Amino acid sequence: MDYQTCLTVGAAQRVEHYEIAAYGTVCAYADALTHNELSRLLRQTLDEEKQTDELLSSVGIKINEQVASQTTNGGSGRGSNESSTTSSRSNRS
Ligand SMILES: [Fe+2]
Repeated sequence: MDYQTCLTVGAAQRVEHYEIAAYGTVCAYADALTHNELSRLLRQTLDEEKQTDELLSSVGIKINEQVASQTTNGGSGRGSNESSTTSSRSNRS
């Protein structure tokens, strides 16, 4: 597992959290204004965002388990990107 995958999952999850906050807010507005059909549709989208967040959480847990496994099996737990970065640094000196 490489760091780029971890960063991608983390970035995607931050987007989902932003969307959950935004849809939660507009759902509250729709409720306050008694726009029931709009509220229903927004809540449906809010639920989809929450499902995606849960999916990303399960992916993140699997990645963490793989990194932990690599670390306990003698690996550094770091991905290929970190290795190439380290090589680049050592070549500069
Ligand atoms: Fe989303």
